[in-house]
Amino acid sequence: MKKVTAKAPANIAFIKYWGKKDEKLRLPANSSISMNLSGACTTTSVEFDKRLAKDEFFIDGESLAVEERDRLSKHLDLIRKKAGLRVFAEVRSKNNFPKGVGIASSASGFAALTMAAAKAAGLGLSEKELSILARLGSGSACRSIPDGFVEWRTGKRSKDSYAYSLFPPEYWDICDLIAVVGEKEKKVSSTEGHALAQSSPFYRARIIGIPKKIREIKKALKDKDFTKFGEVSEREAINMHAVMMTSNPPLYYWSPQTQAVILAVEEWRDSGLEVYFTIDAGPSVHLICKSNGIAKVRKCLSGIMGIKRVIINYPAAGARFLTNGNN
Ligand code: DP6
Repeated sequence: MKKVTAKAPANIAFIKYWGKKDEKLRLPANSSISMNLSGACTTTSVEFDKRLAKDEFFIDGESLAVEERDRLSKHLDLIRKKAGLRVFAEVRSKNNFPKGVGIASSASGFAALTMAAAKAAGLGLSEKELSILARLGSGSACRSIPDGFVEWRTGKRSKDSYAYSLFPPEYWDICDLIAVVGEKEKKVSSTEGHALAQSSPFYRARIIGIPKKIREIKKALKDKDFTKFGEVSEREAINMHAVMMTSNPPLYYWSPQTQAVILAVEEWRDSGLEVYFTIDAGPSVHLICKSNGIAKVRKCLSGIMGIKRVIINYPAAGARFLTNGNN
């Protein structure tokens, strides 16, 4: 069978997905809003091959832990079932950023795997179908399928929980500078973290406030109101981390450098540089600014100790094929 290669971006959520109403189907407790990232992506090739006795995975040239292999094989099982195929696959995947530091490697990873594997299995799926399938591998992966600025509506059932594009990447010249403050794998995965969310006394309060925040951020996006956009994003990130830190057991994804960047951002803003932060399930800080502020933000960051590197991201297209399976 033909080898198919697909490339998918990571994405950064401004309104976050944290907590599920159905763990198995990865139905989120709330809708979320994100932007695809141009500088953080995964490229994956999939080939189904009758000679294989099991699925083979080569991710960044490293062998995978058993649980990781099982999760990927289970995802391939869904695709095999849909395609009526009983053949194992060879999967080769490359990330251009470190895993497990809050740059959503599962999002770009499962989006690229879904797109490549579905086509390699002979399925011709729509963007919506791909988004649903990617979601079953990792929730946030459904947002890496459509282009640019994206909304994932929670949905009542699997078939109506998918992401779609609100605006194309060129709609707004904002960017996300990721201050990478650690390159170690996080101790508690997002999947484990989601399951703890409901144990926080603040969980319900956050969920109740989400529809208003979604309305606000969509309006800010529509009006290109950067100040409002940044303020809502920052509040939401702190809110999610408050839930994380108060779950039982608590989840502390921040490191001292995370806190240092957060405090510095306030100072930079006071001195006239308009920049906001958001943080996922890891210590790295995403700094959101207009593209004409990149040089200044980089300069400011260079004054903070412990930042391993800075990844510059513009809004990006969603998942794409690099080969079409016909060659
Ligand atoms: C903090 O999509 O990684 O990045 O569905 O269990 O794979 P699973 O979780 P995942 O969760 C991402 C959580 C987050 C927030 C977000 O991206 O919305």
